[in-house]
Amino acid sequence: MRCVASQVCALLAGGGYAEKVAVAEGQVLPVPPGISLKDAASFPEVACTVWSTIFMTSRLSKGETLLIHGGSSGIGTFAIQIAKYLGSRVFVTAGSEEKLAFCKSIGADVGINYKTEDFVARVKEETGGQGVDVILDCMGASYYQRNLASLNFDGRLFIIGFQGGVSTELDLRALFGKRLTVQAAGLRSRSPENKAVIVAEVEKNVWPAIAEGKVKPVVYKSFPLSEAAEAHRLMESSQHIGKILLVA
Ligand SMILES: NC(=O)c1ccc[n+]([C@@H]2O[C@H](COP(=O)([O-])OP(=O)(O)OC[C@H]3O[C@@H](n4cnc5c(N)ncnc54)[C@H](OP(=O)(O)O)[C@@H]3O)[C@@H](O)[C@H]2O)c1
Repeated sequence: MRCVASQVCALLAGGGYAEKVAVAEGQVLPVPPGISLKDAASFPEVACTVWSTIFMTSRLSKGETLLIHGGSSGIGTFAIQIAKYLGSRVFVTAGSEEKLAFCKSIGADVGINYKTEDFVARVKEETGGQGVDVILDCMGASYYQRNLASLNFDGRLFIIGFQGGVSTELDLRALFGKRLTVQAAGLRSRSPENKAVIVAEVEKNVWPAIAEGKVKPVVYKSFPLSEAAEAHRLMESSQHIGKILLVA
């Protein structure tokens, strides 16, 4: 139960382009200590996405290796920090050296420029030929075969986006030989009860890391709600690193 007048942030049911929103109680979180109300808005969606996928489902564990595609994205910048904090060796892909340098500054161990390097070869090289244990993927079809080739035995691929398409061919032997697991999920279609379970896990496991200063908000730019179109243009340009906020 939250008290009247306490500062909160929330995992919304969907779009948040509004001055006021109604949210189920189970999707409300306190603003983490030391974080401004505005910066707190950058956390619920990314924290719930990353925690519910690579931690709650793919069971990324201390000492394991993680590959994050789009390391400089809103999702990626959060995933790097929490995975590093919990003891993983973190690999990222990004489309420029500037973005890779930023990813390294917040904890990534290995940066791979997807425009100039073959990420499968680089992952193999960096892991002594084994591959990574878990992949957080926002590309879908275009990376599917290469993601499977990049996984270690008992590896887990979690797909959260389809920027590279939704259809591809699958040779089942690619799963069979290395005992691979492939999963995909979105937050929005989950029931309020399911979202509440995730939000409670995030408060228990992620909020202390934010309170300790080990996971920081990465906010590239804020726009007033009236300039939402400008915010979209920036996001489509993909110049940003981290989150873009709309402020009412
Ligand atoms: N399933 C869910 O519940 C859920 C929830 C939230 C978000 N998502 C998904 O997660 C992804 C990230 O979301 P976001 O809001 O953080 O978006 P974002 O900041 O706009 O990030 C998009 C990212 O995709 C990267 N990218 C584009 N082409 C790539 C390629 N060929 N290889 C590797 N990376 C590539 C971009 O990297 P460069 O800029 O370096 O090119 C950028 O970092 C999106 O696909 C979104 O739909 C899913």
